[in-house]
Amino acid sequence: MPEIHRYYLSPSQIEYHPTLDQTKMLDFARKTGMLITAYSPLGHWHLLSNETLQKIADKHSASIAQICIARLLQQRCVVIPKASARERIQENFNAQKIVLDVEDLKMIDTLPKSHRYVTPPLISPKWNE
Ligand SMILES: NC(=O)c1ccc[n+]([C@@H]2O[C@H](COP(=O)([O-])OP(=O)(O)OC[C@H]3O[C@@H](n4cnc5c(N)ncnc54)[C@H](OP(=O)(O)O)[C@@H]3O)[C@@H](O)[C@H]2O)c1
Repeated sequence: MPEIHRYYLSPSQIEYHPTLDQTKMLDFARKTGMLITAYSPLGHWHLLSNETLQKIADKHSASIAQICIARLLQQRCVVIPKASARERIQENFNAQKIVLDVEDLKMIDTLPKSHRYVTPPLISPKWNE
């Protein structure tokens, strides 16, 4: 319990997926022992037809959604995909079984990293500053 108390009671929920860089937040979280919760992990659905992610998904006989989730789990993030159908919820849950290798991660690194989809008008801060 002391370990849990020390490391995991200050989660920060941020948008995080393969086309958004969150290096600064991840570094800060690692330094401070803070847990990151990744919202919109599928890029709000925009990533579900991404060709690079599809190649990785094919290699693992998985779906793009599972690849997005697996990467975040490997980075020790909590991941909260939203899915309506039971089958998709189960599919997303099963992403825990996928282990991405260095080549997969390098391919994901080549994707653009500036796609922030959740920018509520009026209340959006200047992100990462
Ligand atoms: N803290 C915040 O400010 C904040 C901001 C935004 C979102 N969030 C939270 O983050 C969670 C997820 O974010 P999000 O809804 O923006 O985006 P998301 O989880 O990245 O994407 C959701 C979309 O992906 C689809 N989807 C999910 N699993 C799928 C699968 N296995 N195969 C194909 N399509 C799949 C969903 O379709 P269906 O629904 O049709 O299944 C939905 O259209 C939500 O619970 C939300 O409350 C928090």
